[in-house]
Amino acid sequence: MCSITQISRIAIWQHIKKLQKLGYIIEAKRGVGYKLTQNPPDLLNLYEIEKLKHTTAVENIFFFENTTSTMDEAKKISENNKNLAHKSLIVALNQTQGRGRKNRHWLSFGENIYASYIYLPKNLMPQDGLFVMFAGCIAIVLALKQIGIDAKIKWPNDCLVSDKKIAGVLVDAKSDISSIDEIIIGFGVNINWADIPEETNATSVYEVTKKTTDRLFILDKIVQYLEALIKLIENKRKSNIIKLWRLYDTTLSRKVEIISDSKKIIGKASDIDEYGFLLVETQNGIQRIITSDSVRFL
Ligand code: BTN
Repeated sequence: MCSITQISRIAIWQHIKKLQKLGYIIEAKRGVGYKLTQNPPDLLNLYEIEKLKHTTAVENIFFFENTTSTMDEAKKISENNKNLAHKSLIVALNQTQGRGRKNRHWLSFGENIYASYIYLPKNLMPQDGLFVMFAGCIAIVLALKQIGIDAKIKWPNDCLVSDKKIAGVLVDAKSDISSIDEIIIGFGVNINWADIPEETNATSVYEVTKKTTDRLFILDKIVQYLEALIKLIENKRKSNIIKLWRLYDTTLSRKVEIISDSKKIIGKASDIDEYGFLLVETQNGIQRIITSDSVRFL
């Protein structure tokens, strides 16, 4: 190793220590050398995430062990980079101020996925933002399907397993009247979170499978699906997104309570329209619900 790398034994030993700290299992045998034994089932670090550059269209990857929120980092990165690549991914191991829709707190304790995808689109319109949110949910459901998890989508941005929240999607878009200049898609997916507080009504892949799951595998799949689904939106095939959404939806036909800033609506979720808005059958007829509302199953 010393002759190949042209560095001293001590330096090699220091690098090995760093790799071990990152989670790699490396055996050391006196007089023989080092051996990388099988990797642990879930390794998430910059080196591993960089592999996504080969399997997805992501050009730039930013990794943080600790941050307030990957949404904050995404904003800073986009503000500070005039020539930002068209597709960048920000991943964090921990967030101190993870947030969801309507500025709700997103618990970010566990060994989960916390990521934001920055996309500078060429062909998205302001009204496509909701469809990008749907694309995020569908991408998560399809990724979880790969490991046998049957997740469903709750309008507009939740992914549920047995009616418990396993993931959420948050979309921030910068648009003018006719087009979106930049869209940040944040997603949190509960993967290896073992001790979930009861009152959160959350679940995780670990809680469902009782096994540790490779976050990188799921992250890779989510980004691949997300990119393919965004292409559909850009190619004016939003009807395909609606079809997929319906396939994995758990909102329609259920009795729901819609809480918005000014009022409460109770009724049956009957459909979504071509703009992605939820239609609810109430005593006063069909009401059209826009994204700023939240939905509770009754
Ligand atoms: C929601 O359910 O309302 C959306 C939750 C989105 C959480 C993710 S975690 C990664 C990214 N950073 C954040 O602060 N929020 C999103």
